[in-house]
Amino acid sequence: MPDEVDNKAKEILRANDKGGFTVPTGGLYPYQWNWDSMFVALGFATFDRSRACQEIETLFEAQWSDGFVPHIVFRREDPDYFPGPSVWQAGETLKTSGITQPPVAATVVNKLWSETEDESIRERLAALFPKLLAWHRWFHSCRVPEDVGAAVVIHPWESGRDNSPEWDSPATAIDVSGIEPYTRRDLQHADPHMRPTKQDYDRYIALVEYGRGTGWDQKKIATEGPFRVADVGMTMILLRATRDLLELGRRLEHDDVLPEIEGYLRQLETGVDYLWDNDRKTFCSRDTVNGRHSGMVTSASFLYAYAGAGNKEQREHMMKHWERISASAEYTVPSQDPGDENFDHMRYWKGPVWIVVNYMVSRGFAEQGMQEAADRIRTDSGRLIEQHGFNEAFSPKTGAGTGGSDFSWTAAMWLAWCGDGA
Ligand code: GLC
Repeated sequence: MPDEVDNKAKEILRANDKGGFTVPTGGLYPYQWNWDSMFVALGFATFDRSRACQEIETLFEAQWSDGFVPHIVFRREDPDYFPGPSVWQAGETLKTSGITQPPVAATVVNKLWSETEDESIRERLAALFPKLLAWHRWFHSCRVPEDVGAAVVIHPWESGRDNSPEWDSPATAIDVSGIEPYTRRDLQHADPHMRPTKQDYDRYIALVEYGRGTGWDQKKIATEGPFRVADVGMTMILLRATRDLLELGRRLEHDDVLPEIEGYLRQLETGVDYLWDNDRKTFCSRDTVNGRHSGMVTSASFLYAYAGAGNKEQREHMMKHWERISASAEYTVPSQDPGDENFDHMRYWKGPVWIVVNYMVSRGFAEQGMQEAADRIRTDSGRLIEQHGFNEAFSPKTGAGTGGSDFSWTAAMWLAWCGDGA
């Protein structure tokens, strides 16, 4: 049985490989996505390290000259997906979207580098260092305001947690009255009850049109745009990636830039306090326009451990949330607290379990000595996949798959982390 599941996982990666880059799944997501590819690289690395490097290299082919790395790379026009390249109108050497996604890349490159002694692979990974550094510099010039210190997202898609209830209140400020008529394509591939609503989509498109209207002037969008939310997921992931970039920089003896990276680290370490909601006693996202916390405990809140963030008291509060949530969910980690009024066990980021977030949360818990919690998440993840397949996400109540099937990053996490052979 385990062998069969392993083989199926490899088959999915091969089938979704479009020639040096992998699509998240056929149909629903026919292009290369930023953070999907980085998790996919971990999957490929279990049987083909060279292909793993290539997945990262192809993403960075789309990097802009200012360091920005897009959330989607469009190598051809595909009528199955909206909004495509003609809507975004962004990119330099390749057509891209105009927003980014959580920067897991430095963490992945550092991990792959330390796990191999193969010089040709190490050289390829080392060649990515300046590109990673350029992306982190971009974050600090365009997404980490000095007075906030945490990472701001300018579009819900940038967070990678598209319809998290954390965005609902800040998104009411988005004016959708002028948007061009459009046809959604996602509903041809997935059940509408598992997808964002029309109101969500109108706002997504309004933000794309706003960004395009500025000529993708990232500084302007981040200081004047209608949606500017300090995201707990993005911040924790960036903080962790900065630690890994620093470690990689030391390993590669890039001594000249280490103080700069240490400066970024200090800024983010202070910035996480901006995300601490002292009323709800949780790390959560916060609207920088009006200063309001979401007050919600999402799966991204638990990334504090992965980031190595939080003082003793904050960590104790987070563990209380963990005890409550893990006791109320059949499968961890629900993307939204099941006790929250916005919880919906089948609707995307309003409840379903996402295996890549599980991987990061579990890794963080293990590193912070919370082995039992880490093991629970890993076991739940393996059970979900074995019993229900390589879905995009899963109900934390029933385990049923939600969204698309044959998902690359779910397959990759089986191979690299929660499968029997991993
Ligand atoms: C959805 C997810 C996002 C992911 C993308 C491709 O938009 O919310 O995190 O990167 O699909 O799988």
